[in-house]
Amino acid sequence: MPGSATPTAPDSRYVRRFSPVERALHWLLAVTFLIMLATGLILYLPVFAQLAADRILWKSIHLAAAIAFWVGLVALLPRGHRELRATARQIDRFDGDDGRWLAWSVTRRGPEPPQGRFNAGQKLNTAVVAGLMVVFTVSGTLMYLQETDAGFRGTSAIIAHDWATWLAVPLVLGHLYLAAVNRSTRHSLRGIVLGTVRRDWAARHHPKWERDA
Ligand code: HEM
Ligand code: HEM
Repeated sequence: MPGSATPTAPDSRYVRRFSPVERALHWLLAVTFLIMLATGLILYLPVFAQLAADRILWKSIHLAAAIAFWVGLVALLPRGHRELRATARQIDRFDGDDGRWLAWSVTRRGPEPPQGRFNAGQKLNTAVVAGLMVVFTVSGTLMYLQETDAGFRGTSAIIAHDWATWLAVPLVLGHLYLAAVNRSTRHSLRGIVLGTVRRDWAARHHPKWERDA
């Protein structure tokens, strides 16, 4: 339902890509995730051993970011639950063009299969990030509880937490490259900051969505 989730911008050269709630949700995730990544790596990597001497400080920032994410999410969801549900449906639906697009993104042979509001790579990215947030939260909470309650010891929570971090690092680096560096995709930054993107850019990258937007 691109029409209801993304009403046309007043200037017809631009098209509305993200609503204020969607942008707030993205920046809440981006800021808290990057803080957790940075503080987690300080706690983990031997190269930061000197910095990590004040373990309580970094751990407190790490946990504060995790709490801020969940509190922010619970505060934002009711404000835009209808449009966010429509967006979730757009991300959830995988069609034949998405399968062809994934094959094309590997081979780069022939014309790019047309994509909707999100391409298949973005749909996968969202699913993996959502899954990671669940893994991080469950394993992180167990790690926290293990410190005070012997009943929680013996789980592999820290292994799950570390593996999730190693999956998150290339995923986030790839995301940042596409969003801010790569010439043909970096115009998307305008959408996640200001809410609108150029119609010709939308038609090139997301033609099945641009037609209705
Ligand atoms: C979302 C909820 C999260 C919770 C509740 C959580 C909780 C925790 C806790 C309790 C620790 C142990 C700190 C210590 O005792 O020193 C920890 C460590 C760590 N966290 Fe998280 N965390 C979360 C998210 C993340 C995210 C998003 C990342 C990375 C992208 C991350 C990466 C790490 C790393 C690398 C460590 C060090 C692990 C080690 O020493 O082997 N965490 N986290
Ligand atoms: C400064 C850091 C970041 C920048 C500049 C950035 C930029 C963007 C942009 C431009 C989009 C919209 C793409 C489109 O037009 O569809 C986007 C979407 C998204 N971002 Fe970020 N982002 C950042 C950090 C993060 C982080 C840390 C995460 C979570 C790990 C994240 C998760 C997502 C997800 C799930 C989407 C929707 C699907 C996709 O486009 O891949 N972002 N981001």
